[in-house]
Amino acid sequence: AHQWRGVIAEYADRLPAHVQRTVVTLAEGGTPLVPLPVLSERIGAEVFAKVEGMNPTGSFKDRGMTTAMSAAADRGAKAVVCASTGNTSAAAAAYATRAGMVCAVLVPDGKIAMGKLSQAIAHGARLLQVDGNFDDCLVAARKLAEAYPVELVNSVNPDRIEGQKTAAFEVVDALGDAPDIHVLPVGNAGNITAYWKGYREYAGLDAGADLPALATRTPAMWGFQAAGAAPIVLGHPVTHPETVATAIRIGNPASWPQAQEARDTSGGLVEAVTDEQILAAHRFLSAENGVFVEPASAAGIAGLLALHEQGRVPAGARIVVTVTGHGLKDPQWALRAADGSDVVPERVGADVVSVAAALGL
Ligand code: F0G
Repeated sequence: AHQWRGVIAEYADRLPAHVQRTVVTLAEGGTPLVPLPVLSERIGAEVFAKVEGMNPTGSFKDRGMTTAMSAAADRGAKAVVCASTGNTSAAAAAYATRAGMVCAVLVPDGKIAMGKLSQAIAHGARLLQVDGNFDDCLVAARKLAEAYPVELVNSVNPDRIEGQKTAAFEVVDALGDAPDIHVLPVGNAGNITAYWKGYREYAGLDAGADLPALATRTPAMWGFQAAGAAPIVLGHPVTHPETVATAIRIGNPASWPQAQEARDTSGGLVEAVTDEQILAAHRFLSAENGVFVEPASAAGIAGLLALHEQGRVPAGARIVVTVTGHGLKDPQWALRAADGSDVVPERVGADVVSVAAALGL
């Protein structure tokens, strides 16, 4: 049986040499592309979820962290820094541990999910809660990396994008060609940039021109931001971004121009979904499709449902939605009912009669 070796080894021919000399990997990538028959039926399309929560630290960030950390290790770096809404810090902490490097993470005060916080701590990162939001953290991290011997591993680091583009390769490898539409949540806009790069290269464009084209086309890229943190939709930065989807609570995305480029050249769109729509999609995905994700990861599903309501999803289209992070990262939302009340487990006696009665048997 073939053991998946991580994205650098699996896609060596399509990645730069400098990430391949000192490989730092946790065997990331190779995530399942799961058909979603209930969602497909509902919107009259053929929908698959690219389940990125199945990566080693539970989000897509691992794909970019293996390449960023390998490049840093190759340059002899001893320390890395990132700003994060949580998942990047979890991935950076884990990969820095594997590389034997010190890892500092700057996170927005009180706004990162418990699962992610505990990962960064478990892997021994120096975790600093910054008195500000993600955008403030990123400014500080960038300045730190400029002035001190610390490498920045946010997605403004091009090595991150190189690793993350492999998710698009995997989609094409699984489907035999690119889908019609690729849907994903947008925060700092690194991932939409990476997917677009990957799809283009697999279609023989840009850096892919020297290699065999493995796709005949590229998809329309559909990005969704949270309504309270939707700078690309509004066309201006948001000073105080707010959303339950803390992973994408970002007001001034670093890869903003690249996201616009992906949207425009792919014939796609970037739109906003409300927190209500995000939480409804989050519930629909777990309760009716069997896939448990964190709230931000449901933004793509929410957007797809919203566009379907507006009659804007082409009938029969083949659609891939990236669900970016695992539900266990931020499990509290599952314990809130649709009406906002807490879900409390029902208590029964420790005998079969009580259990059967409670179940109505
Ligand atoms: N979904 C999840 C679960 C994320 O953690 C992020 C970003 C995104 C979507 C958006 O991806 O930034 O490439 O547009 N999280 C970053 C972090 C910001 O710090 O973990 P993007």
